[in-house]
Amino acid sequence: MRIDILTLFPNMFTGPFDESIIKRAIDNNIVSIVTHNLRDWGLGKHKMVDDYPFGGGAGMVMKTEPIFEAVEAIKTQEGSDSSAPVILLTPQGRVFNQNIAAELAKFDRLILICGHYEGIDERIREHLATDEISIGDYVLTGGELAAMVLVDAVVRHLPGVLGSEESAEEDSHTTGLLEYPQYTRPPAYRGWEVPQVLLSGNHAQIARWRREQSILRTFLRRPDLFEKANLSAEERKLVANKAVTRFD
Ligand code: ADE
Repeated sequence: MRIDILTLFPNMFTGPFDESIIKRAIDNNIVSIVTHNLRDWGLGKHKMVDDYPFGGGAGMVMKTEPIFEAVEAIKTQEGSDSSAPVILLTPQGRVFNQNIAAELAKFDRLILICGHYEGIDERIREHLATDEISIGDYVLTGGELAAMVLVDAVVRHLPGVLGSEESAEEDSHTTGLLEYPQYTRPPAYRGWEVPQVLLSGNHAQIARWRREQSILRTFLRRPDLFEKANLSAEERKLVANKAVTRFD
């Protein structure tokens, strides 16, 4: 997969993509992430990228020309795919989640536009962006952090990025439920013991315990997800039968 990111602040991306799993995915040629400085397509000798809003009001608005021309130039670069989604990061977009991450991971190419200042000329939404994504109901200073979150969540879905395919499948949200609690050595720390079942070696019992924990946890922490989860009648009863008063 190739991901192109249009931004006024390309340096912001160096830290997050230079570490850990994303770095390994880049080094293994599973993904290439190319940042482009929108200023390179700025207008005139001052490389202008923003302007005053028509109709007045506070703040500046990102201009159409640099963004259209940047996207058109990038699309003609190597590995181009004219069907690549052009995604505008904006608090007005559809709210990002694990399903959207999985859906985007199927494309060979993504083009991300990071908005800034007070806003972006509406013609970019109408005639250039094919999708608008928000990472949550709060306003960031720009789309860069949102783009990093999106890239991280998408890249985890690419085959070969995680150690074993299983680790993505069992993730919180992939199953529609939150993940079960995990423990590692030592079996007792300051008197807090690891649940006996996990030390039993009985794989069927462990699987049952984990499923139950996922269900109970989701019920307590995220009733909205619990409502939508694909559970058997018996599993739904589990919650009713347990006098659950705490998270774990
Ligand atoms: N730009 C500013 N706030 C944002 C958000 N919540 N999601 C995506 N892009 C943004």
